[in-house]
Amino acid sequence: MSDKAMDRIQALGKQLSPSSTSVEDSGIPPIKKVAGKSAGPRVGGKVIIITGANSPLGIGRASAHQFAENGARAVYICDRDGTHLEAHRRELLALYPGVEVHTREFDAADEAAVRAIVDDAVQRYGRLDVFFANAGVTGRPAVFTDIDGAEFLRVLDTNVTSVFLAAKYAAPAMTKTSPEKPEGGGSIVATASVAGLRSNAGPTAYSASKAAVISVAQTAAFQLAGTGVRVNAVCPGLIETGMTAPTFEAARARGTERRIGQLNPARRAGCADEVARAVLFLGSDEASYVNGQAWAVDGGLSAGHPFSWIKRKSREEWRAHIEDALEKKSRNELSRRLQYILRSTEDRTGLDDVYPYNISEDMLQEGDVAEVWEEDHENEDGDEDEIEVALDEDKAVGMESQAKAGNEKATNENGERNTNP
Ligand SMILES: NC(=O)c1ccc[n+]([C@@H]2O[C@H](COP(=O)([O-])OP(=O)(O)OC[C@H]3O[C@@H](n4cnc5c(N)ncnc54)[C@H](O)[C@@H]3O)[C@@H](O)[C@H]2O)c1
Repeated sequence: MSDKAMDRIQALGKQLSPSSTSVEDSGIPPIKKVAGKSAGPRVGGKVIIITGANSPLGIGRASAHQFAENGARAVYICDRDGTHLEAHRRELLALYPGVEVHTREFDAADEAAVRAIVDDAVQRYGRLDVFFANAGVTGRPAVFTDIDGAEFLRVLDTNVTSVFLAAKYAAPAMTKTSPEKPEGGGSIVATASVAGLRSNAGPTAYSASKAAVISVAQTAAFQLAGTGVRVNAVCPGLIETGMTAPTFEAARARGTERRIGQLNPARRAGCADEVARAVLFLGSDEASYVNGQAWAVDGGLSAGHPFSWIKRKSREEWRAHIEDALEKKSRNELSRRLQYILRSTEDRTGLDDVYPYNISEDMLQEGDVAEVWEEDHENEDGDEDEIEVALDEDKAVGMESQAKAGNEKATNENGERNTNP
């Protein structure tokens, strides 16, 4: 190596050596930090309560692991269903021997039970640091006209009252100080959903409940001003958990699982641990300046307007495809996908009142199809691939009245309107 090259390396080495970049030398102030090291245990010594933690595939269980792995002193795993809680406890203790794990079976919307669990944490440890209010149910996947007020309120009770109670009892407990916790404060994290941000990602009661969860988080955050207690919501998109398992199983059974999640920019569904990582951050002091927020963890789904990947084939290709399906008498499969069959025809012909009507397999005959394309629609339950079909105008008019007649019949027979889109 030439002398010149050696000199340059030595000069670079000096520039990069710790002494030449020290704060004192440079006059640059140190970075002000509220939280401890981000590389170390991120919730060291904290006491944490998690509801909805029984489900083996669930966000609650995955979060318990993240908190335990990151140095929590104690984790309470709670659920109204206790089937797997003991197994989860044993697993957590085996993986993270430093943590104390308590299991509790109660309804997260039961006020006395929520108060009792918070009291238990305070009596046992003198502190509560994180309450992850995660328990939730979807309710029936029915259109809103098909459920009654009691059913609507049941979903709200589990999903919203539970979060309200968590905030109500956890917040004062989090403000308690001790020699070990000289400053009061803590983090309440509630599981909302992308369904709470905008429509078309879940049934009405579920979506309304999740919007309410976000509102509870926002209003509580303000009412807790100055206490050091933060309240945030996470809004998962489509995550494979116990709640959505049937959707994933059905997709696997029909070989369409690769289509799940295709409508978000990540082009896939999420897993529980991906939500748990966000919950860990929000629960930790690293999120000390994140308050009153609704964070989507959805692969980007809620970042844009709903869109469809329209895979256009040539008219001839699609005609051949659908005629082939009809010929092979696989109409059941076809009709399953034809719920929105007239939507495109509606645009083309100006016919209205067509959209809500299901088209039965008997209505489509060989040769009726003028144009067909495939379109994806997605909601929290998974994506639905549909074939949209444009028919010639005469045929569309005929099908509309046929469908209307069918719906009216259904109304008379059942005493209720068939509004299933
Ligand atoms: N999976 C998704 O795609 C998705 C998307 C958005 C939001 N979420 C929300 O995530 C949260 C966790 O659900 P998950 O996806 O892990 O589903 P999951 O079904 O795997 O877990 C939910 C857990 O909540 C428990 N639970 C239900 N009602 C309860 C009650 N009243 N009291 C106590 N426990 C109760 C269940 O027993 C279950 O163990 C829910 O609030 C859900 O609405 C899920």
